[in-house]
Amino acid sequence: MADIQALTASTAEEVEQLRIKYLSKKGEVSALMNDFRSVPAEMKREMGQKLNELKSAATAKIAALRESLADGAEAAKADIDLTRTSTQMPLGTRHPLSIVKNEIFQIFGAMGFTIAEGPEIEDDWHVFSSLNFPPDHPARDMQDTFFISRSPQDILLRTHTSSVQTRTMETQRPPIRIICPGRVYRNEAISARAHCFFHQVEGLYIDRNVSFADLKQCLLYFAREMFGPDTKIRLRPSYFPFTEPSAEMDISCHICGGKGCPFCKGTGWVEILGCGMVDPNVLEACGIDSKEFTGYAFGMGVERITNLKYRVKDLRMFSENDVRFLHEFDAAH
Ligand code: PHE
Repeated sequence: MADIQALTASTAEEVEQLRIKYLSKKGEVSALMNDFRSVPAEMKREMGQKLNELKSAATAKIAALRESLADGAEAAKADIDLTRTSTQMPLGTRHPLSIVKNEIFQIFGAMGFTIAEGPEIEDDWHVFSSLNFPPDHPARDMQDTFFISRSPQDILLRTHTSSVQTRTMETQRPPIRIICPGRVYRNEAISARAHCFFHQVEGLYIDRNVSFADLKQCLLYFAREMFGPDTKIRLRPSYFPFTEPSAEMDISCHICGGKGCPFCKGTGWVEILGCGMVDPNVLEACGIDSKEFTGYAFGMGVERITNLKYRVKDLRMFSENDVRFLHEFDAAH
């Protein structure tokens, strides 16, 4: 019989073949066991011992072979190439409104504006009364504003972030140079062109000798940084209770370059924000001497600016979080 210790096998099947060859009922070791009967009585003791040793050596050898193969399989499984690149994790993208908001921050930040924030749930004073809204102004109506409670005082969702300007003027002394980003709420039916909430960035600058020319230069710089160096601006007289004089600002349509196209309805201009010189009544309501200080303010909708930049046709896309829409802005940043 072959030397048991020298047996080798490289697959589980070969081990099994060896087991069958030596240890099965018809195997070689079993055959020797069967021959044991014919061994003379005086040799039985010695042969018996030898046979038992042989059987346990063969059993142990086969078990050892089986085990080493199993170890090999484990090792093969553990043989992971750590230098291989893993499958790529799907990355999120920045929301288009955040991209544009950050750009607005950068532009005004470069002019020395700092960011001021305030609560979305506000009282009548900070949203309306301090800002010179007359008692019968339509914004104070349920049709336009979401009221949370109406007594003992009006608590409501802010309709603009001018409330943050009031809060800042109440607590800080000029010079004040802030932009106020945030979500605002208006009671509008949701459609492609209107939503019951949107985002604003309003600005306020108060100091000695602040003039309308300063406002115009600041907004021209903003428009050119945001929409390109060839952008022109146009100010049209308007009305807001908290500014006097007030204006609305248009930029030259950056799609047709001002020639007139369906986007600007043939006018060559698109409206982007409201602005004006802070009404002295507002300064006084916040404890700032309107004889010593003047200021300007402006306010824009982030959705509107984003629409102009990226031509998003349906406002609802901004709040649906459809990743297919959001991924379109990967390239933007
Ligand atoms: N608060 C105005 C609005 O919500 C925007 C604005 C701000 C206009 C400051 C003029 C000055 O529409």
